[in-house]
Amino acid sequence: MSKIRAKITSLGRYVPGRVMTNADLAKLVDTSDEWIRTRTGISERHVVEKGTPTSDLAVAAAREALERRGVAASEVDLIIVATVTPDMVFPATACIVEDKLGATRAWGFDISAACSGFLYALTMGAQFIETGAHKKVLVIGADVMTSILDYTDRTTCVLFGDGAGAVLLEPSEDGHGILDFYHEVDGSGRSHLHMPAGGSAMPVSHETVEQRLHYVRQDGSQVFKYAVRKFVDASRTVLQRNDFTPEDVDCFVAHQANARIIDSARERLGLPEEKVVKNIHRYGNTTAATIPLALGTALDEKRIKDGDLVLLASVGAGFTVGAVLARWSAFGW
Ligand code: ACO
Repeated sequence: MSKIRAKITSLGRYVPGRVMTNADLAKLVDTSDEWIRTRTGISERHVVEKGTPTSDLAVAAAREALERRGVAASEVDLIIVATVTPDMVFPATACIVEDKLGATRAWGFDISAACSGFLYALTMGAQFIETGAHKKVLVIGADVMTSILDYTDRTTCVLFGDGAGAVLLEPSEDGHGILDFYHEVDGSGRSHLHMPAGGSAMPVSHETVEQRLHYVRQDGSQVFKYAVRKFVDASRTVLQRNDFTPEDVDCFVAHQANARIIDSARERLGLPEEKVVKNIHRYGNTTAATIPLALGTALDEKRIKDGDLVLLASVGAGFTVGAVLARWSAFGW
């Protein structure tokens, strides 16, 4: 019996309407449009109205994905939400999404893998299709990063934006779909990018709030170096073990953290610029949402066609690493 393969049969996106430009940030912290653009590639990012929960963004993206495919929410078997900004510590945001969406038959759970969250969720969702357990899996990456940003810290607050992306996974009938995945974690790097307070190690207290410990803390240069190295290592690993070389890749969709990280990885892999998707200038780093948002950009720009070899790659807090290789199957866009 041939192996069941999972494929992406639809995609939906959501970003809030409000745009925050670099000039807007320069009014809050000691920064400039020039510094942000040249050091990160970001020009603007979309931000929610304060108090908007991640589940609202996730549901909007999921609805678009389902509508595009003509699938009712009640047909969904499983919802996986990748996020580091869940609506609350518990219940899982997947439960809230299930209710808001009306996906009454689905079960679900959240995955915490920061910027690799979407690829971890995609790999996880694909397993349920490949085993034959499920026929329709919603994989959502959604984050309201502005809810955990310190707008007095110029080294982090300029980097992120809010957004969500969702894909529907179904069994493949044409042999196309997800070919392989490769993931790593390296917990020894956990202190380089984290939110110190709010968990069991440092429960909320007056002191944690006063010391601004409920915000993103980062050692940017450590993360930068690790990200470039691992984008390349993970991409090479997944290509090599499937007998491909970087030249075989038609489209490289990398996590959008910094345009310079993407450029360095592209150069080291020897990929031409036209094969690499970049939308960081419009959205900033939306954490779990960047890969589905970037896939949407690739589709908008008609840069992925049926049968293309698509390489997805991510590095995130943890550290977490992911590379997913897919033979693309076109759907109505
Ligand atoms: N505006 C103006 N100056 C700034 C800003 C800012 N927003 N932020 C930092 N600076 C200053 C620093 O204070 C420093 O000043 P100093 O020399 O007087 O001390 C100077 O700029 C250089 O700082 P560096 O940290 O060396 O700047 P670098 O070029 O490394 O860029 C950045 C910093 C953008 C954070 C970079 O390290 C980076 O992108 N790292 C990756 C982080 C990331 O993307 N994390 C997100 C999630 S993880 C992931 O997705 C891979």
